[in-house]
Amino acid sequence: MKRKVTKAIFPVAGLGTRFLPATKSVPKEIMTLVDRPLIQYAIDEARAAGIKEFIFVTSRGKSALEDYFDQAPDLENSLRKAGKDELLKTLKETSMDSGAIAYIRQHRPLGLGHAVWCARRLVGNEPFAVILPDDVIAAEKPCLQQMVEAYEETGGSMVATMEVSPEKTSSYGVLDVASQTGDVVTVKGMVEKPAAGTAPSNLAVIGRYILSPKIMQNLNRIEKGAGGELQLTDAIAREMDEGRDVFGYRFDGKRYDCGSKAGYLQAMVAFALEREDLRDEFGAYLTEIMALRTTAR
Ligand code: G1P
Repeated sequence: MKRKVTKAIFPVAGLGTRFLPATKSVPKEIMTLVDRPLIQYAIDEARAAGIKEFIFVTSRGKSALEDYFDQAPDLENSLRKAGKDELLKTLKETSMDSGAIAYIRQHRPLGLGHAVWCARRLVGNEPFAVILPDDVIAAEKPCLQQMVEAYEETGGSMVATMEVSPEKTSSYGVLDVASQTGDVVTVKGMVEKPAAGTAPSNLAVIGRYILSPKIMQNLNRIEKGAGGELQLTDAIAREMDEGRDVFGYRFDGKRYDCGSKAGYLQAMVAFALEREDLRDEFGAYLTEIMALRTTAR
């Protein structure tokens, strides 16, 4: 019987240099889409997929993340006294059960593969998920849940994937495809950030993974790859070399690259327009400024 996926790793050690100076004191995972931090979307998606243990791989300067998931008794008391029940409910949704979260430090920025490897003892001998909070995916059924359901049929390891334009492949891990059946792609190879014109397909890896615990051994063996870092993609590629199955899952949903400024702003606008309390006022404002831009041309 396949083991259920109940643990997820959240690599949150990155410096967030693309968002300096903000990230000098605010971890980028705390930056908000409207009023919810990026990390909250990742946690909600994991919970929906049945994850019970949340493993954060952090680094220096990320203690605001630990505080964010803690209880806030003083704040809760004042909200209770003021009868602000809705806000109290919102706040309660952010606190986690005792023992559900673990924090591990990645002492040096050696890459995503190394960050995942840092959590090897907490993962033990179970399949686990990895969620990159920079990749925010808006979907009716949360992306990781879609993947867990597909994984129950396939086993092996699985990465989320979507098509990107050929000029963009060099920013991603890219799949070498053996065959496709519906949303499931059977993969025969994987390359991290291929040089322009050398990508094996235009199916990019997006930041959701379900991995076999055996990957930890390969993470221990790989050499530095793209960008001089230990790459998760390279360890997954080794899985295939050793005869284990790896699948890509073409999820249903819209992915925003919140690791880039343009992607982050697009997500902010899209999420604001989804909100009942903001839709009308904010939508009207957008229409107005777009009209002004057109007449100014
Ligand atoms: C990471 C992974 C890459 C993946 C990407 C998705 O790259 O290494 O394989 O395609 O996330 O967002 P990064 O964006 O951290 O350079």
